[in-house]
Amino acid sequence: MRRLPPVLLEDGCPRDLISLIRTVLAACKEISFRVGQGALSGALGSTLDENIQGETQKKLDVLTNQLLKDILLESGYVKAIASEEEDYTVAGNPDANYIVAFDPLDGSSNTDINSLVGTIFSIMKAPEGSDPADQSIFMQPGKNQVAAGYVLYGPSTVLALTTGKGTRFFTLDKTHGTFLLTEDFAKVPEDTNEYAINASNQRHWQPAMQNYINDLIAGETGPRARNFNMRWIAAMVGDVHRVLCRGGIFTYPTDTKDPNKPNKLRLLYEANPMAMLIEQAGGIASTGTERIMDIQPDAIHQRVAVILGSKNEVETCLNYHK
Ligand code: AHG
Ligand code: MN
Ligand code: MN
Repeated sequence: MRRLPPVLLEDGCPRDLISLIRTVLAACKEISFRVGQGALSGALGSTLDENIQGETQKKLDVLTNQLLKDILLESGYVKAIASEEEDYTVAGNPDANYIVAFDPLDGSSNTDINSLVGTIFSIMKAPEGSDPADQSIFMQPGKNQVAAGYVLYGPSTVLALTTGKGTRFFTLDKTHGTFLLTEDFAKVPEDTNEYAINASNQRHWQPAMQNYINDLIAGETGPRARNFNMRWIAAMVGDVHRVLCRGGIFTYPTDTKDPNKPNKLRLLYEANPMAMLIEQAGGIASTGTERIMDIQPDAIHQRVAVILGSKNEVETCLNYHK
């Protein structure tokens, strides 16, 4: 099986970008070990703190953030980082070419129940001559990403990665500490009978999503004339991985549950990297009204509605929004 660096070199991926991706993965290997230690790590449970988004931080949110931040900033390959767990961006090497946005531990409510969690990352070029302390260097649409991926810490540790030449899976060989190519060119099936949504929010959704989900639930007796199945992992990384493996539609739509927070998922380090992975595998990623990767961000922790997955099913859902 092939290791990651030669696979990326063959694609013509620049060497400094490969080095940066390997730096992210060095942190993820350490996270994989810590997460795998479970209760033995002494790091399960919550801290007494909240992040800037008002969410209680898990001990592992803080620990994984610190690991990624330290390794990335020490490497010299990044001009600045943005993280779910950092209030503001953090400046790095002024001479570096890249910026990285990450969700150090996605699905962290799952840590205490030994269920799926992962790390999501997005890499873009830093504008030439830009100031590493300038937050606005991150205000670029997702289509500018030069690489995006996640590492899923499940029964096996799997990396999904794209540098714009398709989406690939690598599996961590824990005996040697190397990511080995286990699927070249993942392809999201165009059709599906599986959907993922937190159905407890149903009464708060907008009419378009209410109508779409009602028609799925109606199954073979409804307008879709076939039955659908539902899955919800409460970690986007787990749900998106399933969609990449066997198709499906995943959505976290706009809702009116909390008027101050109409959307849940964050654009820079959740929606954008997942959108690139899905599009590179032949799927669609939209807010309901526009392509996710076309959005011009105006804040680091900006949130967006997300509808992504199998091409034909996402298109059907988008038709309800017209
Ligand atoms: P995080 O743990 O990084 O805050 O992200 C959790 C996100 C996402 O991964 C998941 O799809 C969603 O929140 C789950 O939301 P519910 O708690 O509403 O199910
Ligand atoms: Mn997350
Ligand atoms: Mn997180």
